[in-house]
Amino acid sequence: MTTPQNAPATPNTTSTRLPQGKMPELRVMPAPSDANVYGDVFGGWIMAQVDVAGSLPATRRANGRVATIAVNSFLFKQPVFVGDLLSFYADIVRVGNTSITVCVEVYAERNRLQADVVKVTEATLTYVATGPDRKPRQLPPLDSLISHQ
Ligand SMILES: CC(C)(COP(=O)(O)OP(=O)(O)OC[C@H]1O[C@@H](n2cnc3c(N)ncnc32)[C@H](O)[C@@H]1OP(=O)(O)O)[C@@H](O)C(=O)NCCC(=O)NCCS
Repeated sequence: MTTPQNAPATPNTTSTRLPQGKMPELRVMPAPSDANVYGDVFGGWIMAQVDVAGSLPATRRANGRVATIAVNSFLFKQPVFVGDLLSFYADIVRVGNTSITVCVEVYAERNRLQADVVKVTEATLTYVATGPDRKPRQLPPLDSLISHQ
């Protein structure tokens, strides 16, 4: 079997499926400029996308601006390669007075013609609703929010 000269050796991974019945917050494909010389995508690039994806449900729940206060956990379980189609799924797992904690799971559709799906990253981040003064703001009651369903 021939392999493109610069293609990274794909590690043995258990192929899975994209979560059924859920919409990803983001879908994005890393470019060569997002990778190191070995062809693996930079962790910092993945973290930035995860932060954006997690902020979207937090912003909806806060009905306005949020700031990231903490990255509670971050697991790069599998490498990400240039050309992987990444899907970022984000779920709110905790709501406090001013804070919203979100779990973000990232799946890569790899070797697209083979429909190979790998869970590559899982992270939990906390966002704080902030006002125009950039200070923490009480979250609005749920029933005051416009439904996005
Ligand atoms: C976000 C910010 C406004 C919060 O102000 P603060 O005075 O530090 O906040 P508080 O100590 O009152 O905590 C606010 C909430 O965050 C939670 N929190 C604080 N530290 C936390 C931590 N390490 N992990 C998880 N949650 C934390 C608190 O429990 C509180 O939640 P609650 O109101 O639901 O109980 C301020 O820390 C800030 O501006 N940070 C910089 C944000 C930033 O630049 N992020 C990167 C770019 S978006």
